[in-house]
Amino acid sequence: MTSHTVRMHVLDGAVVRLEPQVAEHAEGMFAVLSDPAMYEHENEPPPSVEWLNERFRMLESRRSPDGTEHWLNWVVRVPSSELVGYVQATVYESRRADIAYVLNSRYWGKGLATAAVERMISELVSGYDVTTLSAVLKSTNRRSRRLLERLGFSIASEAQCRALEIEPDELLMVRPAVVWSVP
Ligand SMILES: CC(C)(COP(=O)(O)OP(=O)(O)OC[C@H]1O[C@@H](n2cnc3c(N)ncnc32)[C@H](O)[C@@H]1OP(=O)(O)O)[C@@H](O)C(=O)NCCC(=O)NCCS
Repeated sequence: MTSHTVRMHVLDGAVVRLEPQVAEHAEGMFAVLSDPAMYEHENEPPPSVEWLNERFRMLESRRSPDGTEHWLNWVVRVPSSELVGYVQATVYESRRADIAYVLNSRYWGKGLATAAVERMISELVSGYDVTTLSAVLKSTNRRSRRLLERLGFSIASEAQCRALEIEPDELLMVRPAVVWSVP
């Protein structure tokens, strides 16, 4: 990992805009993240706007506490300017990025998560020299698995799962960051 701090950018895509997440997003994001459908497989809604504000403030450092990992979070907007969710990546010194994505269920089924994750991946490659992508999901999370398959991810080997200590109820999916297609 490079020791310099990489400045996060607003990332514009055809159907979504990704903004570097800051504490000022907490109020709008609290409503977006208070949808129980989003937590069918894991996690839980934020307990309060104040809690979310504190968490977002902490994440503005863009680094793990020991400084070795980039912790990157972008909120996702649609052109009507509504906030719809977020995407995030942890970039390790090995140049692997572990990604995650969460959208309010009102916006599922429209390809918005695919567009947002694709835009983030292109930034991870060009801005952070990422060479490998990974995602850990609950085995029951079929929507998440479909999204990853659409983006060219496949199930990791048993050795990769062991190395990353994947739990029995989880799946590890991986992809080279740059996919070369032969014309
Ligand atoms: C995982 C999650 C982000 C997937 O959202 P999604 O809306 O299903 O994903 P996409 O934005 O890629 O949309 C795909 C759907 O849109 C449809 N679609 C419409 N236009 C599309 C387009 N241009 N491109 C791709 N898909 C499109 C696809 O056919 C697909 O439909 P389907 O659900 O009937 O199969 C969402 O379910 C979520 O936030 N879940 C809760 C949090 C979570 O579990 N996160 C993952 C933790 S590992």
